[in-house]
Amino acid sequence: MNKIAVLTSGGDAPGMNAAVRAVVRYGCESNMRVFGIRRGYSGLINNDMYEMNLRSVSDIIHRGGTVLYSARCPEFRTDEGLDKAVEVCKANEIEGIVVIGGDGSFRGARDLSLRGVPCVGVPGTIDNDIACCDYTIGYDTALNTIMDMVDRIRDTTESHDRCSVVEVMGRHAGYLALNGGIAVGATAILLPENDFDVKSDVIDRMARTQLTGKMHFIIMVAEGVTDKLKEQGIEGSMGLAKYIQEKTGVESRATILGHVQRGGSPTAKDRIVASKMGYRAVDLLKAGIGNRVVAMQNDRILDYDIYEALSMKKHIDLDVYRIAMHISI
Ligand code: ADP
Ligand code: F6P
Repeated sequence: MNKIAVLTSGGDAPGMNAAVRAVVRYGCESNMRVFGIRRGYSGLINNDMYEMNLRSVSDIIHRGGTVLYSARCPEFRTDEGLDKAVEVCKANEIEGIVVIGGDGSFRGARDLSLRGVPCVGVPGTIDNDIACCDYTIGYDTALNTIMDMVDRIRDTTESHDRCSVVEVMGRHAGYLALNGGIAVGATAILLPENDFDVKSDVIDRMARTQLTGKMHFIIMVAEGVTDKLKEQGIEGSMGLAKYIQEKTGVESRATILGHVQRGGSPTAKDRIVASKMGYRAVDLLKAGIGNRVVAMQNDRILDYDIYEALSMKKHIDLDVYRIAMHISI
């Protein structure tokens, strides 16, 4: 291929810039012309792109967010939207696209590949919820941000003998809550993947630790447990803090960490993985191969057919959850 493009789509993630940098640098180094598409699929449909060169990606490896901006684009899910995107690619003679994003973005990449524009997906999402990958770009940074933030919350929780409910991101995936919970020593962790009973999994656990002298508590919950809480008559994290206070007498507060988790300078791990994945994506396009997703498994970079990747299911490791529960007493 002589002319390729790169875009970032869906929720941004720290490390996306390092992936863009790798794509642009290795693409240019391979004598290809590389275009940056702004704001994901919306920029593609609206022909919002610019030619990048080696220096366009200077000084971005350490920056959070994405210099290409990101967006969600409902129009891209329609035939008309896809047709427009294909036209734009044809008009600009774009022969292949690197799509950095989550599984929604990969579904878009699959649809575009089907219409004759080869795409390669690079997994970028703080949720770590892409089935074919052990690891997604942004996850490590978000996890470290959660750890730093909860360490601060712990200081004040301890000073006041309180309980802090901390809600982290993850609408459908509990990786941030599970591993964040382990990293901060949470007394209880509530995940969307797990059935739980607040009485036994939170209140009774707290009571048990109180008997051995514990006076302050961190309860980690994933954003996606709201429905399960509701089934138990509890309205979100705020409601959970109120419920805990009523049942245990321990003064409780809730903190929703929110978008602080999505920003910040990427960790070394995110920069390195993103660089390797961006490089692999260009290698595939160089060889004329599209319709693939770059993945990481057991620290190795590999790639999958995009259909296969999208049909895979990821299961949270419940052994890790069990370990967490055995040691947070
Ligand atoms: P993520 O890539 O982080 O999962 P989204 O699910 O918001 O984020 O998807 C990002 C964009 O990918 C959407 O705004 C849409 O343009 C496109 N997309 C998502 N799902 C599909 C789908 N099923 N078919 C085609 N395009 C999709
Ligand atoms: O997919 C990443 C993510 O941060 C999820 O954890 C969260 O549920 C969602 O995006 C929030 O998206 P936004 O606020 O951008 O709509």
